[in-house]
Amino acid sequence: MRSLRDLLILLPFFFLSLPLFTEEDHDMHDLMAHFITPAAEKIWESTGFVITEEGEISLEPKDNEGWNEVVFGAQVIIESSYSLKRLDRSLGREDWIAFSSLLEPIGRQAVIAAEAKDSEALFQIGADLYQACVACHNVYMKK
Ligand code: HEC
Repeated sequence: MRSLRDLLILLPFFFLSLPLFTEEDHDMHDLMAHFITPAAEKIWESTGFVITEEGEISLEPKDNEGWNEVVFGAQVIIESSYSLKRLDRSLGREDWIAFSSLLEPIGRQAVIAAEAKDSEALFQIGADLYQACVACHNVYMKK
């Protein structure tokens, strides 16, 4: 009797939780587009040069505020490593976990480079970061 009542109470919650699983793609889209990409752009848009009519312009931050933005982006990259490994996202897939794990050390190196205002190191770290994104997308991003 007791367990039947519990079941009847819990049943609506079961149906309420179903959309969480069917909305997996939506969840990944948001994480990628609104969390990971803006963070990575803090790093990519702070390194290298752009060519204009006036010549080469360095994208290196000009002040502490600019470098702090890079530190902030790098911290988000570190956090995204854990966030991607959450069980409902990794689904226990070993390669997914390995790809996600690449982001943490890269993020840490980026924090160190940004704190040292080392734009050459940051450029290389940005390239490594890009490779880590692509490694996972090659396997898991639907065409
Ligand atoms: C562990 C795997 C994994 C890693 C690492 C990863 N991604 Fe993704 N990314 C995905 C998957 C899966 C999708 C497809 C999501 C979907 O269904 O829309 C995706 C999609 C995207 C999209 C398209 C989003 C959309 O739906 O419009 C962008 C942009 C993106 N990722 C950026 C990045 C960047 C930048 C990095 C690295 C800093 C990165 N991703 C690292 C798995 C990953």
